[in-house]
Amino acid sequence: MATIVGGIATSHIPAIGKAIAEKKQNEPYWKPFFDGYVATREWLAKARPDVVVSIYNDHGLNFFLDKLPTFAVGAAAEYKNSDEGWGLPVLNAFPGEPELSWHLIESLVADEFDVTTCQQMTVDHGFAVPMGLLWPGGGQWPVKSIPISINTVQHPLPSAKRCFKLGQAIGRAIEAYDKDARVLILGTGGLSHQLDGTRAGFINKEFDQLCMSKIVNEPEALTRYSIPELVENAGSQGVEFLNWLTMRGALTGAVSKIHSNYHVPISNTAGATLVLENRATARRQAA
Ligand code: DHB
Ligand code: FE
Repeated sequence: MATIVGGIATSHIPAIGKAIAEKKQNEPYWKPFFDGYVATREWLAKARPDVVVSIYNDHGLNFFLDKLPTFAVGAAAEYKNSDEGWGLPVLNAFPGEPELSWHLIESLVADEFDVTTCQQMTVDHGFAVPMGLLWPGGGQWPVKSIPISINTVQHPLPSAKRCFKLGQAIGRAIEAYDKDARVLILGTGGLSHQLDGTRAGFINKEFDQLCMSKIVNEPEALTRYSIPELVENAGSQGVEFLNWLTMRGALTGAVSKIHSNYHVPISNTAGATLVLENRATARRQAA
C-alpha cells in the first residue's frame, strides 16, 4: 500500500537556484535561509520517500497565458527542466512515475476534479529549485516525481477552498493505491511577495506567520480567504500559498510539525519552509 510520509512546503525563488549553483550557501545573506533546510533533509533521510508529488505553479514555461489549465497533472516517464529566463543552470531530468500518475488522474477525475493530463511537461524553477534544496549535490534524484501545476498566474484562480479539496482528493487517491510507495507531498512557492505594480516588494510578516501557524492544525481557517483577500494580505505572487494549502489537504492522517524556518527577504520574497509529518498508517488502521 502507498503511504503519505508527510509534506514539505518551501519557497521556490529563482535566486536560490543561482545561489546553489554559485555555492553561496555560507555567505551572510544566504546562510540564515539555507540553514533552514538542514533539519528538513535530516527528516527526509528518516522518512525515506521514494515518490514526490510536487504541487507548484508553472511560470510561463510549460503553459502560457494563451492556454493555462487550472490544475494539470504530469503523467510522463521523465520531466525535463528548463530555464524560462532567470539564467539558472538546467538540472538533470526528473524521473517520473507514470503508473501512479494515471492512478491519481483516474481518481481525481472520478472525484470531479477535471484535470489536464500532461504526458509531456517541462518543469521550471517552481519545481526544480525545491528539488535542489531537498536533494543537493548535482541532480542524481533519488525519488520519482509527479508534478501537479496549479494556476496562480492568470485570474480567475482556483479558490483556497477548492485547492484544499484538491489536496484532500490527492491524499485519498494516494492512500488507495495498492502498490508500495512512500510518498512525500511538496508544496512550493510563497510566502508573501509581489513582483509587479505599485506594491512591488510587498512582504507581510504578520500574515505569513499566521499562515505558517494555522496550516499545521487549522488549515480550514485559511481556506476562508478569498483570492482578492489573499492578494491583499500576501501580495499578487503570494497567492502561491495555494500550493501550500493543496499540500496540506493531502495530509490525511495525524499531522505534526517537525520543523520550520522563515527568513526575510530572499530576493523579493519571504523565504520559508515547513516540514509536516503525516502518521497515515495509524489513521488507516483505526478506520
Ligand atoms: C521571485 C519569487 C518567485 O516566487 C518567483 O517565481 C520568481 C521570483 C523573487 O522573489 O525574486
Ligand atoms: Fe513563483
